[in-house]
Amino acid sequence: MHETILVLDFGSPSVQLVPRRIRECGVYSQLAPNTLTAEDIRKQQPKGIVLCGDTAGRIDPEIFNLDIPVLGGGSGTFEMEAIRYFVKNVCECQCAWTMKNYATAAIERFRNEIGNDEVICGLSGGVDSSVVAAILSKSIGRQLKCILVDSGLMRQGEIEKVAKAFQGHFDLELQVVDAADGFLERLAGVEEPQEKRRRIGHYFIDIFAEAAKQFPNARHLAQGTIYPDIIESGMTLHQEPGHSSSDGSATIKLHHNVGGLPEKLGFHLVEPLRELFKDEVRKLGIELGLPKDFVWRHPFPGPGLSVRCLGEVTQKKLDRLRAADTIVIEEIHRAGLYRQVSQVFAVLLPVKSVGVTDGSRTYDEAVAIRCVATDDFMSADWVALPEEVLRRMSSRIIKEVPGINRVVYDISSKPPATIEWE
Ligand code: XMP
Repeated sequence: MHETILVLDFGSPSVQLVPRRIRECGVYSQLAPNTLTAEDIRKQQPKGIVLCGDTAGRIDPEIFNLDIPVLGGGSGTFEMEAIRYFVKNVCECQCAWTMKNYATAAIERFRNEIGNDEVICGLSGGVDSSVVAAILSKSIGRQLKCILVDSGLMRQGEIEKVAKAFQGHFDLELQVVDAADGFLERLAGVEEPQEKRRRIGHYFIDIFAEAAKQFPNARHLAQGTIYPDIIESGMTLHQEPGHSSSDGSATIKLHHNVGGLPEKLGFHLVEPLRELFKDEVRKLGIELGLPKDFVWRHPFPGPGLSVRCLGEVTQKKLDRLRAADTIVIEEIHRAGLYRQVSQVFAVLLPVKSVGVTDGSRTYDEAVAIRCVATDDFMSADWVALPEEVLRRMSSRIIKEVPGINRVVYDISSKPPATIEWE
């Protein structure tokens, strides 16, 4: 058991910051509902308690008789120094919670919990599902059955990149399912963004469920739920996934790609990252041996390039978009800016405009470049990329991607614009 500090949430808006800061001091910390009684807390044996928000009349007074240090009175913006002092000097914590020993303990814990069962994991190439696969591979080896669906809507070389990150480094079974033609068929003639998403979601579930039949002994489905998902959905860490919280309103945010699958196929959910913040997931990935550039990848939407290929999706448009996107990503890396921005990508617009190439009139398609900075993806600022970077992106796209004669830069923040265009 590691040392723990409980943070009781009395409705402070920035309460998430507190456990995060405590963890930075080397002590595990988690949020707990303010309805916890002194008896509940005593059972958990925390080294300290932090009260966040206005506690007036809503706290079990017995908490102060537990002989556990209490830090109170903050609205969530406790200074780092105050937290450090409380953790080290008041609670007298050893501060030995590191990602390395967290990983060792978690590997052991999942090995015991899963036993000889098989677990299916949907790999998407994103950070969360990759780290899920990495830690479960260390726990249960080839009992882990990974399914990677090639939707044909991914970035250039994506399947190879994911396979390369795992093969030779991790012991697991990886099945790549080529479903590109099927996705394109289902998207034919569809222009409306929500309908595109709906069709992709449904077909994904069909493909995934079919692939899962190859593993009839698997009873568990691994999912990359992370701690902020738990907090946002009003669950507590110890609540069974998929069940509503006490007020009945919140259910866990399912990874959209496999949403509905556990119920449909009768799987038990395994969520190895449900205690971790995003930056901790990255640290864990590195600790487990995933390549650094892999762990620091920008998020990529589940419906993939389809939401960046505005209007109807066709193979030809996808190829154009993929080529333009590759150039955007290459140039951001070349400028050393990838880690400084949150997301950068190309969007293929459903408009044609007039241009001129080698003295001849063209009437071709346009690409928009989108680059944003954000902490939480709920709001985002557009990034003023250096002029020379934009210049290189634009001239390369127009020169290297046939059928594109115009590049524009998206200067809209979220809100009111969203990050994706569809
Ligand atoms: P928006 O466009 O809503 O995007 O501002 C916020 C973040 O979510 C990503 N995104 C998705 N991720 N499935 C996902 O897994 C989706 O359907 C989806 N739509 C948007 C988007 O890339 C950004 O990081």
